[in-house]
Amino acid sequence: MRALTVQPGIADSARLDEVPEPEACDRTLLVRALALGICATDRDIVSARSGSAPPGEQRLILGHESLGVVEEAPPGCGFAPGDHVVGIVRRPDPVPCPACAAGEWDMCHNGRYTERGIKERHGYGAELFRLEPAFAVKVDRDLGLLAVLLEPASIVAKAWDHAERIARRARAAAPHRLLVTGAGPVGLLAALIGRQRGLDVHIFDRAEKGLKVDQVRGLGATYHRGRIADVLEDLRPDILLECTGAVPVIRDCLAHVGRNGIIGLAGLSPAAAEAPLDIGRFNRTMVLENQVVFGAVNANRAHFEAAAGALAAADRDWLAGLVSRRVPLARWTEALENRPDDVKVVIDFTLRDAAPD
Ligand code: BGC
Repeated sequence: MRALTVQPGIADSARLDEVPEPEACDRTLLVRALALGICATDRDIVSARSGSAPPGEQRLILGHESLGVVEEAPPGCGFAPGDHVVGIVRRPDPVPCPACAAGEWDMCHNGRYTERGIKERHGYGAELFRLEPAFAVKVDRDLGLLAVLLEPASIVAKAWDHAERIARRARAAAPHRLLVTGAGPVGLLAALIGRQRGLDVHIFDRAEKGLKVDQVRGLGATYHRGRIADVLEDLRPDILLECTGAVPVIRDCLAHVGRNGIIGLAGLSPAAAEAPLDIGRFNRTMVLENQVVFGAVNANRAHFEAAAGALAAADRDWLAGLVSRRVPLARWTEALENRPDDVKVVIDFTLRDAAPD
């Protein structure tokens, strides 16, 4: 079978390989891939900025944003052939630490967790893969290919979970206004959940026009560009979800969020990117204005399930607008390209290899 593999640590070593089919196993699901979402983490691994192969192996099967159809399921496991499933990314550390032992592997204490397609475990970028029922999430077949958005949606479901728990520190004032920085897939899915909560939603990005701007409007949210500091001074959001990872944007978010502001950092910056920040001033406003900054990575089963609810409740046409390109597996190199109007690019295993977008 074909699989998209990479040698972590070696830039541009990705290739479409012929690899053995998964071995027989009577405890796991055998899943045929339908779609694989591509994100910045995959591009980072291909550029040797992150990623590690399973112990004792040189190459890693890439891919962590999965969607597949069950071909074989152990009896009584809760899944049946024909079910559409998405694989959870992280596996608990082997100790396990108290968080992993409680199913909160996204909060692993010792960093010895593994992640499919990222850290020491083969990913989902293969025509067939095996999945433990405990790490499979059943999705509505009616969502079709759009269920591939579940993994990125799980990431924002976690950020929302944490932001809302922090917001409960103030009994009198529920959050009313949300600002999301970055109108990529993560930002737009974060905004979707904000709209579903009934918030006044604003999204900041640098695009002048195009798909991202249309998606913001399609959500009934307000689009902003220009200087983030001005936007913040004007809006004073209760919750700010930062989804760009862009260092100057983050610096301005930290400096201008405003009283009682909660900032969730969900985008990853390049390492060693500097922007000057007056720590004294930062500390004074954090303390005097009850501000909170938190980071959120990965997602546990509860977040995947919350995300499944958010996708099921979303307008299908709007969700479809997030998938800006579908590429057959044979043309995987195009899937890794970052084109100007891309939102989410997906490798569609059901497309004939020669088919156009
Ligand atoms: C994935 C997360 C993962 C993180 C760090 C992200 O792209 O969505 O599941 O924890 O990368 O490896």
